[in-house]
Amino acid sequence: MRPVTRRTALAMGSLGLAGTVVGGTGLWRDLTTPGAPGDPGGELVEPEVLVSSGGRLEVSLQARLGTHEVAGRQARTMGYNGGVPGPTLRLRPGDLLRIELDNQLDHVTNLHVHGLHVSPEGAGDNVFVEIAPGESRQYEYQLPEDHPTGVYWYHPHHHGSVADQVFAGLYGAIVVEEDDPPAVDRERVLVVSDITLSQDGSVVGPSMPERMMGREGELLLLDGQVEPVLTARGGDRERWRVVNACSSRFVSLRLPGQDGTARVVGRDVGRLPTPVGLEEVVLAPGNRMDLLVDLAEGESELVAVPVDRGQMMGGMMGSAVGPEDSERVLARLEVGRGGRSSAGEAGEAGDGADGGSASLLADLRDAQVDRRRELTMEMSMGGGMMGGGRGPGGMMDLTIDGRSFDPDRVDQRVRLGTVEEWTIGNVGPMDHPFHLHVWPMQVLDVDGQAPTDPLWLDVVNVPAGGSVTVRVRFADFGGRTVYHCHILDHEDLGMMGTIVAE
Ligand code: C2O
Ligand code: CU
Ligand code: CU
Repeated sequence: MRPVTRRTALAMGSLGLAGTVVGGTGLWRDLTTPGAPGDPGGELVEPEVLVSSGGRLEVSLQARLGTHEVAGRQARTMGYNGGVPGPTLRLRPGDLLRIELDNQLDHVTNLHVHGLHVSPEGAGDNVFVEIAPGESRQYEYQLPEDHPTGVYWYHPHHHGSVADQVFAGLYGAIVVEEDDPPAVDRERVLVVSDITLSQDGSVVGPSMPERMMGREGELLLLDGQVEPVLTARGGDRERWRVVNACSSRFVSLRLPGQDGTARVVGRDVGRLPTPVGLEEVVLAPGNRMDLLVDLAEGESELVAVPVDRGQMMGGMMGSAVGPEDSERVLARLEVGRGGRSSAGEAGEAGDGADGGSASLLADLRDAQVDRRRELTMEMSMGGGMMGGGRGPGGMMDLTIDGRSFDPDRVDQRVRLGTVEEWTIGNVGPMDHPFHLHVWPMQVLDVDGQAPTDPLWLDVVNVPAGGSVTVRVRFADFGGRTVYHCHILDHEDLGMMGTIVAE
């Protein structure tokens, strides 16, 4: 049994669960999950899967409040189609995805398909759209034929309430499949999220300092469940598609007891030329990874280890990760005696492929750069001295290039067909994960370190006091969209800019 840390003790205490094992079934799945709701260690139940056929996927998503059992408590969460996470959408490059979003919340919402290389205009991935309560809207996303394969996700993007809505349960995974997937015994979609619930089961919002830090929920969920059980047989090879849907929490996973058997074969966009170890990857909010895991017989745990993402004002305002934090159990693995699996015998099949889209993900390290830009992310004492007064409580301003988000201002204009190099600096004491919509970024340098292989991300963490250099090919899709910090509280507080490609 892992030691009960101060933090878990507090979490359990506030839930009235001290002395019992925290367990639960998936949000809203109490009717379909075998076993009584709230049973500790329930079997992992993955979200419903919707698969495209004949080049099309038509989906109706209803965003609404609902009640359901989590950690032994009736939780009042938000969700898509009554599930947390919402359904997993499985697509292929070249597909047309149509989503009718019906807003049954009491708040304005909208939809963003995070990481998809699709048009940001009109009925496409347009984050400037507002869907009023009771209204619905038809979205249409045409994936190009060479769309990179990988795991992506969807979530609301209405400025000012993105963190609140994601934290309350509005997110789901999107998988763009390759033609030649590696042979595996089982594929799982694992969405990591966090949430804080009060005694009465309502979602607890952050204090102002927590908002400025970026809130971290007391409960860590996997597919909406607390410490679910994954069962398999020894020798099984599994593919795990992991999404970090936490509003602000950075996630670094370990599989103690299954040492060295998990290899990361893909990150945000496409597949990695060479797989890397699990400990080499930290998922900032919004990041994903694609894992191949060879399971050994026995019991083990999937754990999230603390990630230091900095602090505010020398810790006076609190830090995201305190000394009392220790690793958190995300899931338990029960791997029984196995026969030799067929997938295991297939060896390294599928490794090393680039997962399609040779043209969009062509290596830009030797490309001719048409233009260079520098952007600066900053968290500073604001107090509305610039007259904006957007800083929370007049205390801190969260800005990019000294400005708070203004949907009516254009911050960057880029030419279609060009390659740009962006150096993104962070002059503050906290990490800021930088996210660009529509066009994937090739990471050239993080604080003086260059990745050996081409590395494509759509969220790249800019370390406190450091900088990151990326190259972007603005190959296609004109229009207006955004870039922002993917600590969603920071985005809501103004750390976002607009970009027009023409
Ligand atoms: Cu995942 Cu602009 O967001
Ligand atoms: Cu996005
Ligand atoms: Cu930030």
